[in-house]
Amino acid sequence: MILVQDKLMEQKELHIGMEDRGYQFGDGIYEVIRIYNGCFFGMDEHLTRLERSARELQMSLPYAKDLLKKRLEDLAAVNNVKDGQVYLQVTRGVAERTHHFPDHADGVLIAYTKEAPRPYQKMADGIGVITTEDIRWLRCDIKSLNLLGNVLSKQKAKDAGCDEAILIRDGIVTEGSSSNVFIVKEGELVTHPADNLILNGITRNVLFKIAEESQLNVVEKKFGMDDLLNADEVMITSTTMEITPVVTIDGKPVQDGKPGPITKRLQEKFNLRIHEVQSVEN
Ligand code: PDD
Repeated sequence: MILVQDKLMEQKELHIGMEDRGYQFGDGIYEVIRIYNGCFFGMDEHLTRLERSARELQMSLPYAKDLLKKRLEDLAAVNNVKDGQVYLQVTRGVAERTHHFPDHADGVLIAYTKEAPRPYQKMADGIGVITTEDIRWLRCDIKSLNLLGNVLSKQKAKDAGCDEAILIRDGIVTEGSSSNVFIVKEGELVTHPADNLILNGITRNVLFKIAEESQLNVVEKKFGMDDLLNADEVMITSTTMEITPVVTIDGKPVQDGKPGPITKRLQEKFNLRIHEVQSVEN
């Protein structure tokens, strides 16, 4: 089953309008929310970010957050999702094609779930990344459907046999094509400030909390390629990749090319948090 507006239905019943602005302009927003053992992780934070993205694009959501939360829970339950995710998107809706906003269009919301195992292997072994120029627009804080800059960089990473592309704007490391980037330097975690140049990741904020619990200092400040290449440890965070160590950058190892101790410690804390969420919900 899938969710369309506030109704659960079979996928074959879904009809997307040819002039849906999401389809024609990428005029919409989305979220990916993780489900662990049947429980949503960070649902409130994701829906709050969805509301913010909508506000920034002067879009309205078809209905309120509380009902949306309930409907997503119904969707996961009816599909019996254990370990997986929900993809949710809202477009500005169907209207005659003009670039400016239509006078009237109802937002179109769809959501579907899928089973997806946690990326255990990559979290344990670490991943290789490339660096590439950040060619995206200047509102990367909005989780919009306009993802071509991200798509092209991820493809470049895949072509190089890597899992992620780290984006560089004016010599500064912003984020990954679908993740946030952290480096460890002299016992401190450093990441790009949450301004218009990055997505303020939900996992990024979980990492802030568990770092604090571990008496680790997190500094939000801009850092460059040299800092990245000479870091003691490098990691990426996202809903789907959780906390994953980066062990090579452009083919060169990060230190000894193995996941570092601080990354491992944070991964353990993250695991505990997942279990806590489940025990609260059950
Ligand atoms: N991407 N930065 C970008 C550009 C992203 O696309 C994502 C997530 C993140 C991490 O955000 P969060 O921790 O809230 O997932 C950072 C999702 C998973 C995706 O597009 O599939």
